Amino acid sequence: MIIDPKNQTRQENYKLMIGSIVPRPIAFVSTKSKDGILNLAPFSFFTAISSAPPTICFSPGRKADGSKKDTLVNIEATGEFVINVVTEEMAEAMNETATEIPSDMSEFEYAGFTPVTSESVRPPRVQESPINLECKLLQIVNVGIDGPGGASLVIGEIVRFHIADFLYENGRIDTGLLNPIGRLAGNQYTTLGRRFGLDRKPWPPKS
Ligand SMILES: Cc1cc2nc3c(=O)[nH]c(=O)nc-3n(C[C@H](O)[C@H](O)[C@H](O)COP(=O)(O)O)c2cc1C
Repeated sequence: MIIDPKNQTRQENYKLMIGSIVPRPIAFVSTKSKDGILNLAPFSFFTAISSAPPTICFSPGRKADGSKKDTLVNIEATGEFVINVVTEEMAEAMNETATEIPSDMSEFEYAGFTPVTSESVRPPRVQESPINLECKLLQIVNVGIDGPGGASLVIGEIVRFHIADFLYENGRIDTGLLNPIGRLAGNQYTTLGRRFGLDRKPWPPKS
């Protein structure tokens, strides 16, 4: 099958993207509005960019009516957010936070997550998550149309790592104990499957 995206609707292209780019890690993003309302929402268009300084990005798309999601509005207003890693235990409650509740209601209360004060940013961390990354906004890059299907790439610097002690050993994280979930297409998720190691070969090869 060979498909020219220009001959498809945005929803058709979206379906091909979310089935091709898998599994996707989930950034569970906490923000605070300028009026102090705590917001929490998952984003699977999410990845790391650089380590000096440690920099990540994620992408809130426009809503069906073309308006900006609360997470983006809050980050534009405050320049701060926290990325919380989602474990299998948190999956169902995380999914609840993706419900479009009114902007003046908090997803922390709605889905039953516990806010914990952060060290260097105003939005709280999620207590139930064993890894929290406090972030400061570096840049927002608007991508695509300013309407449904368009998005804003949020680029932020990690200013604090919070890692649960049971996961941390000698500067490394035990990903098996972390038990993160990944997003697939539609409403499908995955846990870590079979893991295997591969050694990188030097060049020139040793004889
Ligand atoms: C696992 C998961 C991943 C999601 N990933 C994205 C994403 O990458 N971009 C996006 O715009 N919406 C994504 N959504 C939908 C948002 O979470 C949803 O629109 C949410 O209500 C936005 O909240 P806000 O308006 O409080 O920011 C995802 C939802 C789920 C459940």
